[in-house]
Parts: sequence; C-alpha cells; structure tokens
Amino acid sequence: MDLIERRYLTDAWHDLGASFDVVTPTTGEPLGRAADCGPDEAKQAIDVAWNAFESWRATSPFERAQILRRWHGLIMDHQEELGRLMVHEMGKPLREARGEVAYAASFVEWYAEEGKRVYGEWIPSHTGGKRLMAIRQPVGPAYAVTPWNFPAAMLTRKAAPALAAGCTMIVKPAEQTPFTALRLAELWLEAGGPAGTLQVLPTNDPAALTGVMMADPRIRKVTFTGSTEVGRILYRQSAETIKKLSLELGGHAPYLVFDDADLEKAVREVTACKFRNAGQTCVCTNRIYVQDGIHDDFVAAFADSVRGLKLGDPLSDGTDIGPLVDAQGMAKVEDHVADAVGRGAQVVVGGSRREGLYYEPTLLVGVEPGMKLLEEETFGPVAPLLRFATEDEAIARANATPYGLAAYLYTRDLSRALRVAEALEYGIVGINDGIPAVAHAPFGGVKQSGIGREGGPWGIDEYLETKYLSLGIG
Ligand code: SIN
Repeated sequence: MDLIERRYLTDAWHDLGASFDVVTPTTGEPLGRAADCGPDEAKQAIDVAWNAFESWRATSPFERAQILRRWHGLIMDHQEELGRLMVHEMGKPLREARGEVAYAASFVEWYAEEGKRVYGEWIPSHTGGKRLMAIRQPVGPAYAVTPWNFPAAMLTRKAAPALAAGCTMIVKPAEQTPFTALRLAELWLEAGGPAGTLQVLPTNDPAALTGVMMADPRIRKVTFTGSTEVGRILYRQSAETIKKLSLELGGHAPYLVFDDADLEKAVREVTACKFRNAGQTCVCTNRIYVQDGIHDDFVAAFADSVRGLKLGDPLSDGTDIGPLVDAQGMAKVEDHVADAVGRGAQVVVGGSRREGLYYEPTLLVGVEPGMKLLEEETFGPVAPLLRFATEDEAIARANATPYGLAAYLYTRDLSRALRVAEALEYGIVGINDGIPAVAHAPFGGVKQSGIGREGGPWGIDEYLETKYLSLGIG
C-alpha cells in the first residue's frame, strides 16, 4: 500500500503541511503520512459544523435516510478495499476486517430507518385550555473520538445515529487509523452527504485538538470510545459547557463457565470472545472462571483450541491472530504475562513474543487476585483461567472490579442463566454467547466503563433533546 495522504475534511478537502507518520503494525514499515490537525483546524471545523447544522437539521428524516442508505451501499461496495486498509492500519486479520466493514455498514442501514421513528408524544392535559406535547430534536454539532481497534465500526456506530437525527459530526480518528475514517467520509460525500455534515480531522496531538472542541459551547455532544483514563478527562472538560456525553470506556470482562455447560460450545464461544481482534476489544473476556466440576476438561479442550489458532500475516487466509497494534501494546502484554508468571501462574499455551509485534495466543492457569492481568485490561491474546466452586462466589468475583462493560456466562440451566445475568453489574451480558454486539441492541457499560448507550433506539437518543411544547388554546 502506498498511502501518502495529508488530507483532512471539513466542508472541503484540505492539504496540510503539518503531517505525521502512520506505521503498519504488520511489518513496522511506514504506511503513509496523515494531516496533523491542530487548534486552528479545530476552530475551522466547529464553524463548518455549526453552519452545516442549520440546513442539515431542516432536512426530513426521509431525505437523510436516502443518503444513509446510499452510504451503506457504498461501504459494502468497498468492503474489500476498506477491509484491507484496516489490516494495514491496525493489523486485524482480513477475515475479521471484512466482517468489521459489514458490521460498520449495519449501523448505517439500521439508523437510516430509525431516523424516521423519532416520534414525539401528546401528553394528556390537566385543563381543557391547553394542549401539551413533547418533541425530539437534534442536539447539535457532535464531536466523536474514535478508537483504533474498530476503525470503521466505531465511526459509523457514532456517525450514523448522529446524522440520522439531524446532527453534524466532527470525527477525530485514532492516530493509528486515520485513513479508514477519511475513506468512510469520502464515501459519505459520494453518497450525497452535504459538505460539512461529516468532517474528519486526524491529529498526532489529540489533547490540543480536543481541548478546542471541549471548550466551544457550539459543540453540544461528545462521544468517545477509549480508555477510562481519557474518559475521565473528557467528563471533566465537558462540565464547563454542560455537553451531552457518551463514554464507552475500558472493560474487564469475566466469563463464567458453569459445570453444566456444553463443553464444546463453551470452548468455541470463549475462544471467539477472547481472541477476536487479537484480544484488543473492550468486550473481550479478561478472566475466565471455570467451575470445579468441569475445570480440568475445560482446560484441556480450551488449550487445544488456543493451540489451533494461527498467528501470522493478517492478509493471509486462515490467519486467526495478527500483530498487536504497536510497541506500547506489546509492552503491556509482555509485562502482564511476566508479572503473572513471576507470581506463580503457569503457561499452558504460548506465553512468548515472536518477531515484530506478534504475540502467541496464550493460556495461563494458576492465576490469582493481585496479578496485573486481573486488575487492568491486557488488550492482547492472553487468556487467564481461574476456578470457582459456587454460583455466589462466581458472581462476587465477577463483580469485584471498577469496570462494568461486558460479562459472559455459559450454562444449560435457564434459571441460573437469568439469576446470574441479573446479578452481574455489567451493561452487556452474553449468555451462551461470546459475541453479543449488533447494531440494533444497546452497547455500553456501567460503573467506570462509561455512560450512555450506542446501538438500537438507545443510540439515537444520545443525539436528541426532548422539547416540551405547551399550547394555550384559549
Ligand atoms: C469495542 O471494542 O468497543 C467494540 C466491540 C464491538 O462492537 O463488538
């Protein structure tokens, strides 16, 4: 790939002198250079978003739906191209990248229709002389900070409901993945999206650019997917101008496998959940608790499954795990494994780095509380396995974390499934399902994993305000 793009998009494409290197984790070679937008470009983008909002909000949801549907079609027409671009930018296997493009497009398709269902309400009046109504209107220009682990889907999960609701959006993509965001915005324009409704500003100095967005009262909504640490800063900064906020932050997902689980299926789901995107997913399980009665069989079957995963070139068919995104990500994975092994955990499979940014799919047993990988998100292909005796113990250990994004359980007992799912303090619970996220269901966390929901009708609410109208009829 030869990507030398110094472009950013406001209501037109601009070339910027200032730029930064984007390196592919697949080989460590330069992939291209991206525009390094700063405070001046941020101010320019806010003016554009504000002006474009006036006319975009006035279009009908049916008109917006037509553009969104065309965008959906174009994204799918470019599935292979976008998929390969993501592989180069952040290293996920091509099969997963193609899947992510379809997942990204599904948000666009879903919100094209949901925009038509932003209903108001007629409120029974306390007097014959008044009629009361509640209507829902777009909140205004929105600022989105998107992550590198799902460069396409996290952009459309935010932009599609925003645009369907009549908001304009400025996107700051992660430094590692600016080109996917720029290409998606190009397709939005090709679909007929009016200039200025969706802007993309890459930057190598996120704090400087974001600072301008957070301080400006015309940015009415901020949506962020990323770490809890950065989420806290944005939460604080948004207080100054009282912005509407959604935060999809870190997780530390437990997976509870009960004695009565179907072993084969449980192994398959846990493997998919843990090793998807090389473990670099907010909802990947970070700790697998297996009940005493099934523990040894599960370890043996899971070890076989992990051994069977193919690590290598993400562009090759059959590769299950590609490189980690960067050296920092690799350092964290190595540190967590070294810490666990140093404190007595045993490596059953993997446990080492290969050349470049490739880390072996790893299974650890003998994991104990206090080890780093039970406290922080490892964000890598490392599965720590623990054992438990009773349901109450499993629930207590699963909930003993400041995070609350996703949790999973495997059981054939329906009563237990519902009892445990209700007791887990998480925004998402996968019951016999390791990959529950879809465009039409709510995605988001509780506790320090965030606020707000993306997906389904909940996702468009985040871009709407409710206005009360009281009509005196004399
Ligand atoms: C994430 O890591 O936040 C996205 C995962 C998903 O949508 O399944």
